[in-house]
Amino acid sequence: MNTVFGVVLAAGQGTRMKSSLPKVLHKVCGKELISHVIDCVNAAAKLQKLIVVVGNGSEIVIKHIEKYGNTDYVFQEKRLGSAHALLQAEEKLKNFDGQLIVMCGDTPLVKARTIKELLRWHIRMGNSATVLSGRVKNPFGYGRIIRNADGLFTEIVEEKSATEEQKKTNEINSGIYCFDLKVLWNALKKVDNKNNKKEYYLTDVISILNGDGYKTGAVCLANEEEILGVNDRVQLAEAAAIMKREINIEHMINGVTVVDPESTYIDKDVIIGQDTIIKPNTHIEGKTKIGKNCVIGPDTTITDSKTEDNVLITCSYVENSQIKKNVKIGPYAHIRPESILKENVKVGNFSEVKKSVVGEGSKVNHLSYIGDARVGKNVNIGAGTITCNYDGKNKFKTVINDEVFVGSNVNLVAPVTIGKKVLIAAGSTITDDVLPNKLTIARARQITKVRKNK
Ligand code: UD1
Ligand code: CA
Repeated sequence: MNTVFGVVLAAGQGTRMKSSLPKVLHKVCGKELISHVIDCVNAAAKLQKLIVVVGNGSEIVIKHIEKYGNTDYVFQEKRLGSAHALLQAEEKLKNFDGQLIVMCGDTPLVKARTIKELLRWHIRMGNSATVLSGRVKNPFGYGRIIRNADGLFTEIVEEKSATEEQKKTNEINSGIYCFDLKVLWNALKKVDNKNNKKEYYLTDVISILNGDGYKTGAVCLANEEEILGVNDRVQLAEAAAIMKREINIEHMINGVTVVDPESTYIDKDVIIGQDTIIKPNTHIEGKTKIGKNCVIGPDTTITDSKTEDNVLITCSYVENSQIKKNVKIGPYAHIRPESILKENVKVGNFSEVKKSVVGEGSKVNHLSYIGDARVGKNVNIGAGTITCNYDGKNKFKTVINDEVFVGSNVNLVAPVTIGKKVLIAAGSTITDDVLPNKLTIARARQITKVRKNK
């Protein structure tokens, strides 16, 4: 049994991003670059320990990785290069034997199965170091995999140090490696910074190990897209476009109809049930779970929400809410955070619900605002009903019990409770609680007079 460890290099400045946010915290399909990498390596191998090398913007990066169980970090004080970055992990790993997977924090597209295969190959060949390589159409900017006349891997040469001849090769270094911990630290200490960037290149460890008689290998397992490194915002958008396509394909294969994949944006961790239809121009974001047989879209955004089965959401915006079975939302509704719409609820036509529970079968169909409210079962909220929940300083609750009928254009000035089966006359402004089964009217009586000057 081989013990496996992981290191993610994430200390780099990310200068080319031109951002106040550390590069690895930029998001692709709703998830930070570094989270894609951490999830990938954790899925590839059962890691004894995962260490993230942090530097630039370390506090927020550390705060971000704290949520991962087996993950620790080391701090690279000065950004002297990728070899120097990896050497910072020595302190935490020097007492261990086994294999080490090294990933870059900026390659979000790499697949767990590729890393699994790389590790398997590394162990089977008994290598001291194995590099994940790939053949690409445009190798510019990447380190080149250099092989001798017999095809044996001799070294990696960085773009800036490569000869014209070396630049011609299109087999490149992905920046992902497996190392045998027994020999790694010594070899790393031999890396110097005699290159035009004055950096300690991790890639130099290959020629050092080869020179010392150890066995190294480069395996071309990755496809071009998988090893795309995100160094600037153009590559960030490229990575997002590739991942978006992959995510859409995965859902389609799992039985979801995506009518127009081009205009459908589904975040990485979203779950969608079978026979659901996603119509164009729809964004499903964050930790959202959609049930079976739903129709979502067109022109809809759902964020961090859960819908059960048979839900219909048209041209609407749903945030951090729970939508139960057979609910219909839209067109043009906004369901704001902490709302629960229970079974068979309808909310549509320019209505907004915020931090409210709407009970089974209730309808908020036109031009209404329901905020900080508890609405019972089978309540009819007439067009233009407003819960007046805010006095400029504090928020107050409105309670509307089962089977209440709220006429059109009613103001409910909170805090207020409406008893079961109450009928509220249209145009009322309700400031006092109403006992069950009553009819309440709170409006000036109409007077009709003779029209003067006519
Ligand atoms: C690196 C490789 C290159 C490979 C490419 C793949 C080196 C020298 N070159 O180039 O062969 O083709 O990745 O994408 O490694 N880092 C630190 N501390 C540092 C410097 C870098 O933690 O002092 C981290 C970065 O955050 C990044 C990784 O190391 O995650 C690679 O550094 P980067 O500057 O992005 O190297 P590339 O030029 O992309
Ligand atoms: Ca890079």
